[in-house]
Amino acid sequence: MKKERKLIIAGNWKMNKTVAEALGLVRGLKIELANVKEVDIVVCPPFTALSEVSKAILDSVIRLGAQNMSPNPVGAFTGEIAAVMLKEFSVRYVILGHSERRQYQKESDALIAQKALAAHAASLKPIVCVGETLAEREAGQTEKVLQTQVPGSLAGLTREQVAETIIAYEPVWAIGTGKTATTAQAQQAHAFIRGLLAQLFDESTARRVRIQYGGSVKPANTRELMAQPDVDGALVGGASLEVRSFADIVKNSI
Ligand code: PGA
Repeated sequence: MKKERKLIIAGNWKMNKTVAEALGLVRGLKIELANVKEVDIVVCPPFTALSEVSKAILDSVIRLGAQNMSPNPVGAFTGEIAAVMLKEFSVRYVILGHSERRQYQKESDALIAQKALAAHAASLKPIVCVGETLAEREAGQTEKVLQTQVPGSLAGLTREQVAETIIAYEPVWAIGTGKTATTAQAQQAHAFIRGLLAQLFDESTARRVRIQYGGSVKPANTRELMAQPDVDGALVGGASLEVRSFADIVKNSI
């Protein structure tokens, strides 16, 4: 599949996998995906498995991501993890503002933007998550939500930083529910986000940004979703926890 931007498929393991389980998964992926060069492949284990997974993927095409990060560089922030600590394990990507963190940790767009700035300052690529709830979609407010979340979560970033940011469009009603957005719904939201980026920054920046779709991505719906012109990859939760399904998602995206 020829795409304008290189696809990026990331597995968000959430609060799953002990170190031993993480190693089992990533070793299987290494074998399955050994020769894949066409798409960027990222796994995002919990913090506690980063060190071991980092060593296990050294000689592979798989890159490492974290699931969250502090906006602060160092200091008295109990329980937090700084960018420089992630860099020790060759982490290249960091998921920011996932809807679960927006919901349970009450993360705001402003906080997410601070984290995105801190990530770029450390040369980590943020994967910034946006997306509407079911109530918002049913009330016809999807675009309004994106009009707030996209500029709010990228506030203060330069054009160059935005171009190096990945946006994950994840309709909250599709996460872990088995309900996927239709390809038309996904393409429409992605095109809308790209249009917003063009307004906020400029056309050429908007064309460089990779926008992932997330929400019940499975091997069976990958091909159709990735065929949409503004869909540049996937952020995968549940289906990233097994070698077979994540490897098939990557292969079906090619
Ligand atoms: P899901 O999760 O694939 O299990 O729906 C996606 C996500 O939360 O990133």
